[in-house]
Amino acid sequence: MRTSSKNSCELAAARDAGGGALSRMPTTHRLIIGDCSEMLNKVPTRSISLIITSPPYFNGQLGFPDLFPSYEAFLELMTRVAGELYRVLESGRIVALVVDDVRIRRRLYPLVGDVTRLMEEVGFRKREEIAWLKPEGYIRTSRRSGVLIQHPYPMYSFFDNRKETILILQKGKFEYDRFFERLPDQAKAKSRIDITEWQKWSSDVWCITNCLPTRGRIEKDIAAFPDEIPRRLIRLYSFWNETVLDPFVGSGTVMKTARELGRNSIGIEIRPELETIIRTKAGFSNNAQKKDSFSLEYAAAITQDQ
Ligand SMILES: C[S@@+](CC[C@H](N)C(=O)[O-])C[C@H]1O[C@@H](n2cnc3c(N)ncnc32)[C@H](O)[C@@H]1O
Repeated sequence: MRTSSKNSCELAAARDAGGGALSRMPTTHRLIIGDCSEMLNKVPTRSISLIITSPPYFNGQLGFPDLFPSYEAFLELMTRVAGELYRVLESGRIVALVVDDVRIRRRLYPLVGDVTRLMEEVGFRKREEIAWLKPEGYIRTSRRSGVLIQHPYPMYSFFDNRKETILILQKGKFEYDRFFERLPDQAKAKSRIDITEWQKWSSDVWCITNCLPTRGRIEKDIAAFPDEIPRRLIRLYSFWNETVLDPFVGSGTVMKTARELGRNSIGIEIRPELETIIRTKAGFSNNAQKKDSFSLEYAAAITQDQ
């Protein structure tokens, strides 16, 4: 099913490219079910042009208070994954991580700093840090500010959390001249960024409404980010028909937006029960759309193709 936002994105891409004459290349989307620290070995070396992901938020994630036995176990997983992300990414390209420090009782675990350090240890270099600001009035279930309301005295203040961090890290240098020399005209035209639109994103503070907890939403119980985050990142850091990876794919937001923007995708998710949600969100819940393809793999073999 094609949504109105997809149509408007495609129309915008065609308009930016100077008209509607450009053909649409079928895209491929591959979902792998399993632990990404193991499953990434199914992804060939230097085959990915952009990685966008939001890892599990240690034990602060809604509904998963004991996901990891310790903070060290979380960092060990991230270290193993970081090495694999470095291997699968093409040289010069970007990994974008949506993370934030996590408060568990009185301690704020410094995820942003620790994840940056372990990514740098495997070879990435930090390029940008964007603050994703959620609307005023957004209140996380931690009810941090409630402590001061109960005890209106110094030392009781814990701030409500309205922002998340988008870390932009790069693998080596991007060879602009060499890359553009080889880029087909059609890919160049389809990847062009609309300057007027970009001006709205050009600062390092992005004000974007988070996924609202509306009744019946497909992302229920998944800490999904809104489409607008991968949509901007895909347009800023990948070219048309390239492949985008999300190793912690959750509800499949990255796969959905990659498809809408004419990119291929690979998603990895440890919870098998999310398969139907991902398939639906990416627009593969029925056989109506045949142009793009979706494949599903478990640890051993490919089990289904559309
Ligand atoms: C913060 S959510 C990602 C949400 C996603 N960005 C979206 O928009 O729906 C993190 C996801 O990572 C998954 N996950 C946790 N550990 C994993 C692992 N070792 N390998 C693969 N997926 C994992 C969780 O089940 C969860 O769905």
